[in-house]
Amino acid sequence: MLSTNEAARRLKQGEVVAIPTETVYGLAADASKLLAIQQIFTLKQRPSDNPLIIHIGCINQLDEFSKPMTEIELRIIRKFWPGPLTLVLPKKKNVLDAITAGLETVAVRMPNHSQCLNLLQKTGPLVAPSANLSGTPSPSKAEHVLSDFGENFPVLDGGDCAIGLESTVITCRPNYPTTNRQQSSYASRKFQSDILIYRPGAINAKELSEFGMVEYYIPSHSIKDTLRTSNGSPSPGLKYRHYAPKARVEWLSDVEQLENLRYPCVIFLLDKTPPYTQSLTDKVVNDGHSLLCCEGSWKRFGQLLYDTFRMADKENYTRIFIQDIRRHDATSSLKDAIINRIEKAISGH
Ligand code: TXA
Ligand code: MG
Repeated sequence: MLSTNEAARRLKQGEVVAIPTETVYGLAADASKLLAIQQIFTLKQRPSDNPLIIHIGCINQLDEFSKPMTEIELRIIRKFWPGPLTLVLPKKKNVLDAITAGLETVAVRMPNHSQCLNLLQKTGPLVAPSANLSGTPSPSKAEHVLSDFGENFPVLDGGDCAIGLESTVITCRPNYPTTNRQQSSYASRKFQSDILIYRPGAINAKELSEFGMVEYYIPSHSIKDTLRTSNGSPSPGLKYRHYAPKARVEWLSDVEQLENLRYPCVIFLLDKTPPYTQSLTDKVVNDGHSLLCCEGSWKRFGQLLYDTFRMADKENYTRIFIQDIRRHDATSSLKDAIINRIEKAISGH
């Protein structure tokens, strides 16, 4: 494990170092060093058409990468930075193509993590995708990074991530041309909203709606097919398999789903409302299942989601049942993001 000074020294020398943020750990490189950036793609086995987020430590650093912002972007930044919100902005010419995967836009965020901000003061802007191998769940603990990249991988340990889910990714220019190629299905769509959410996260649609009309970017089926086969995605990460463990993930809405299972499984619950029952407790004890309950805390539920996925794989469980929270009476600002990640894990992409 590294000190902040040692992490900064290595990053300035062109090495790749894993860093903590409030969302998930990132695999960081100096935003001006092409070889280090390329190494991130190699280490992660990440497709080169999936762009990276630039992390900044102060607002002034934004001028290097992005053209002047609109009033709505400025207001959103003032409200949510530092925090779990990534803004996709028109990029300046000097931003390396390796970062943006050739798009005309660049994604930027200022993380809300004191050690990370301290590091960014010393290094300047860093690019960082989540510090996991492509296809595995994002790392919410330093040990998750080591499990993907090896015990000796350089990590700045900032403790367990407070949120445990990746940042909300938005654009406030839904109709800005992202590529020079205009033939994609996406390019022909016109959005009426002021803010388009590419990826839900801890900053949710309701909070953003204070600044304009908000819409989720949902690829329709035909567009989804186009995204898989062409370079027409406005946010290329959307087309790749994400957040899924090897174990099969299912919503748990009834204890009967646990009948006749051949092997013990993992049961992950938000709280002790249905399907939680005495017979569930009996089953867990009798059949050797592993039960985790977050005692009604959505924050804990989000924090532990990826950890639970990783635990299940490590301990060779083949199935994970998660309390069906989609119609849960309780609301939470994290609800959309958590449902999104679970649904991705269920469908396997
Ligand atoms: O919370 C987070 O955002 C974490 C921490 C480390 O900051 N990072 C993270 O990075 O989740 P990554 O690379 O796993 O996800 C970045 C997402 C991808 O879906 C990518 O396609 C999208 O942001 N993205 C990056 N640049 C973009 C751009 N110019 N336009 C649209 N989407 C972009
Ligand atoms: Mg990722």
